Amino acid sequence: MVVVKTRLFSTRRHTLAIPQPRAVSPTRHVTIVDVSPRDGLQNEKTTVPVQAKVALVDALSAAGVPVIEVTSFVSPKAIPQLADAEAVMAGITRRAGTRYTVLVPNERGYDRALPTRPDGIVVFGSASETFSQKNINCSIAESVERFRPVVARAKADGLQVRGTVSCALGCPYEGEIAPAAVRDVAARLLDLGVDELSIADTIGVGTPSRTAEVFTEVLALVDAARVNAHFHDTYGRALVNLEACLSLGVRSIDASAAGLGGCPFAPGATGNVATEAVLAMLVAQGYDTGVDLAAVAAAGRAIRTALAI
Ligand code: COA
Ligand code: ZN
Repeated sequence: MVVVKTRLFSTRRHTLAIPQPRAVSPTRHVTIVDVSPRDGLQNEKTTVPVQAKVALVDALSAAGVPVIEVTSFVSPKAIPQLADAEAVMAGITRRAGTRYTVLVPNERGYDRALPTRPDGIVVFGSASETFSQKNINCSIAESVERFRPVVARAKADGLQVRGTVSCALGCPYEGEIAPAAVRDVAARLLDLGVDELSIADTIGVGTPSRTAEVFTEVLALVDAARVNAHFHDTYGRALVNLEACLSLGVRSIDASAAGLGGCPFAPGATGNVATEAVLAMLVAQGYDTGVDLAAVAAAGRAIRTALAI
């Protein structure tokens, strides 16, 4: 509602409440990043056949999801579920305007990923030293040095680069994480030249007030247009945490079809917030995403069937 002060028929001041048109302004547009093929399937006991993964990515593309995190070029010993990354990238049908991104932990991963023609890559750091060791077998400082040549090469190759800060709202091993630790890693990733920062509640322990605190720290470093919010729904708070992010101007949200997800190195973490739930919330609040909710729900049902869950 916009309140307009005007003069009508007399010299007395009247206050008219004029409803705003529902037209979507750029600031009401939210970019949905569906991470189910990567964050979702990496944590499932069942390894899904390549064809089912390809079908999921293609269904999400057809549903109008603008960014899809397709897979990871990590060690197959660390994540056997995604050992078929090359085959999945070769199998997908690329839709014009959709960005297909992949996780890359080191130069070895980049060498594998580049020939598969991703549109963007993700390097993934952590705000927790212990999680960094468990997840990628090195300290935070070492991880930044490992990412340096990867980011440089990706930028030179014209790829979009995301830097993730995992465990930004809590760590399965260390518990609470100081917002200053998140800001510190975020700053180091920005120094490397990442285009976008993803601030991740890897284990879903955030609350709206803590979320606001952490994102406010990050937004002191970088414009909201370059920040993404990644929440798991362990305690059912992902949507309210996302609302806190939206109110700070964040307009890029990770979500996972059917709420699949988790991290094998984050005990207790359950699924990512469901893309279907995020879309329903955004529609109710007058945001535009360009994504077809019913089509995402159908993709979610199909992958659940493939996983027999
Ligand atoms: N792709 C495929 N294999 C890789 C690889 C990559 N990107 N990077 C390393 N490897 C292989 C090496 O060739 C080596 O294989 P070998 O044992 O047969 O000789 C083995 O993995 C160990 O390599 P090393 O460089 O010593 O790595 P590491 O053991 O310190 O592991 C990572 C580091 C980052 C490769 C590993 O921890 C990893 O892949 N983690 C990913 C975790 C993840 O994806 N988590 C979920 C996302 S949040
Ligand atoms: Zn995650």
